[in-house]
Amino acid sequence: MDTSASEPSTKDRVGQLEVLMGRASSCVACELSATRTKVVFGQGSENSPLMFVGEGPGASEDLAGLPFVGRSGKLLDRLIDEELGLSRQDVYIANIVKCRPPDNRNPLPIEVATCTPYLVGQIGIINPSLIVALGAVAAKFLIGPAISITAARGRFFESDFGVVMPMYHPAYGLRQGASAITAMRADIVSAKLYLVQKGAWVGR
Ligand code: URA
Repeated sequence: MDTSASEPSTKDRVGQLEVLMGRASSCVACELSATRTKVVFGQGSENSPLMFVGEGPGASEDLAGLPFVGRSGKLLDRLIDEELGLSRQDVYIANIVKCRPPDNRNPLPIEVATCTPYLVGQIGIINPSLIVALGAVAAKFLIGPAISITAARGRFFESDFGVVMPMYHPAYGLRQGASAITAMRADIVSAKLYLVQKGAWVGR
């Protein structure tokens, strides 16, 4: 059966992401554009069934133009490697807002609302089977404001964005140490098992 009409090819997805990234890279729609160094659009495989979504770039990401490349990112990379046997290039990593909030404050509601079309666009193009929300801000945005990260982590929620599983933010894991990192490992394994059960797992 020819499924080419409904399933975009890798080339289509790359092209669509490039167009969206081009728009984001010159975006001045909110105040964050005035203080950013680089727009942090997202990174990884346009065909990944697994997408990680964080809150917004920090200082290292703002300089590099890539998501989760600072200390938190190193922990995320390690968990993706050790628990999934994958690298960051095999999954897709993005943030709610694409420009760094000054002093690492939480993004303001107006900044989130202004930036949302980029994340919605990325999700629409990549069409992941599962979105992992990294931390409370991403979980509340993707699932709903009543979510408690402690109660919701490792559980699966149907949301307007697709199926979402929250886990602790890597920065929280770094601050809290072993028990939080153990929980993060368990949750990332749950994400893999979910994808295996759905027949969507592409890793080893
Ligand atoms: N924290 C986030 O939420 N995103 C990043 O890209 C880096 C740190």
